[in-house]
Amino acid sequence: MKYIDQLDLKGKRVFIRADLNVPFDDNKNVADDTRIKASLPAINFALEHGASVVLASHLGRPKGKRDDKYSLEPVARRLRDFIKNEIIMATDCIGDKVTKQAQALKPGQILLLENVRFYNEEEANDKEFAKKMAALADLYVNDAFATAHRAHASTAAITEFMKEKAGGFTLKNELEYFAKAMSNPKRPLVTIFGGSKVSTKMDAIRNVGKTANRIIIGGAMANTFFAADGLNVGKSLYEAEQVENAKQIKKELTAGGCELVLPVDVVVAEKLESGIPTRVVAINDIGANDLALDIGPKSIELFNAKLQDAATIVWNGPVGAFETKEFSAGTYAVVDMLTASKALTVVGGGDTDRALHEKHAMEKIGYVSTAGGAFLELLEGKELPAVKALEAKSGCCCCCE
Ligand code: 3PG
Repeated sequence: MKYIDQLDLKGKRVFIRADLNVPFDDNKNVADDTRIKASLPAINFALEHGASVVLASHLGRPKGKRDDKYSLEPVARRLRDFIKNEIIMATDCIGDKVTKQAQALKPGQILLLENVRFYNEEEANDKEFAKKMAALADLYVNDAFATAHRAHASTAAITEFMKEKAGGFTLKNELEYFAKAMSNPKRPLVTIFGGSKVSTKMDAIRNVGKTANRIIIGGAMANTFFAADGLNVGKSLYEAEQVENAKQIKKELTAGGCELVLPVDVVVAEKLESGIPTRVVAINDIGANDLALDIGPKSIELFNAKLQDAATIVWNGPVGAFETKEFSAGTYAVVDMLTASKALTVVGGGDTDRALHEKHAMEKIGYVSTAGGAFLELLEGKELPAVKALEAKSGCCCCCE
């Protein structure tokens, strides 16, 4: 697979598919610009090497209809804070007007296309739609790692119509750090899983269990593992239909020599609510009306001890309902454990990133992924369709045949 620095960019129009899917505040300003910043190295590289850029992204899930709520206009405003070059905001991502705007681009200019998901054809990976977007540029660069698990028109089908295609620097970094942490890790490799729905992470736990020396599980997902051990979880969130799967995974991990670490105590309350009275109880002492909402202090100590010898740590998912102060201690303690560690630390997932942001710990982590779903699919051992599309028949396309 090629990367952008292997392309001859001078005088070319480069279609850069970025992931500019960022949250807005109430005033329609960008609330978190991490993904915008992550897209800058590839954009700047193209501009500095004499290219013009046709920049594309999705934003939110507008269900195939134009909807101003999902316009990329606020992203254009934010991009202008970082890039001095002219950024033209298109009103569409295909059509005559956009085609003319793209053709008129001079080296150093950027045309930001409007949300590609304003068309159903985007998510349908429609070839005709992809062909129209491909016609806007000479070269294709995909830097949208966070969307790489989607086979969509702007991430997959489009590659069939471009003479040259390559990955951007974010895509490169993400894949390289992931490979360093998971394919060829310095050991012990310890992976921490958290989050609420165990069903969304079972495949990842099973797959990671084949490689990791130790897996630590916290958050509401641990409740399903408690239930698998025959413990009462009260009113805590757990997935009854996953209990057998949890038992099976425990067996597989033991058989494969991967240590499983679960919390030994939890913070419980009768509701997930700020200001509510809380108690710390051992996991075999969860009451009938209790909701387990965070790991307890003994679990924090245990998790910390289990990270001491780690040479590589991968973390996905908070270990408690950290958005509510009363249940935030566990997740923030894990943030501190990672920032204090000398191991290679790799973190992925939207909620986990938020915890890092809140503790101002982003800079102290080896690598923080820009992705949620795509990161999880890598943990599951899946091939990412957008990456596969860049690899296939590199340097050639259906137009050349
Ligand atoms: C994300 O935020 O995870 C990516 O931008 C993909 O968005 P999606 O889940 O709506 O496809």
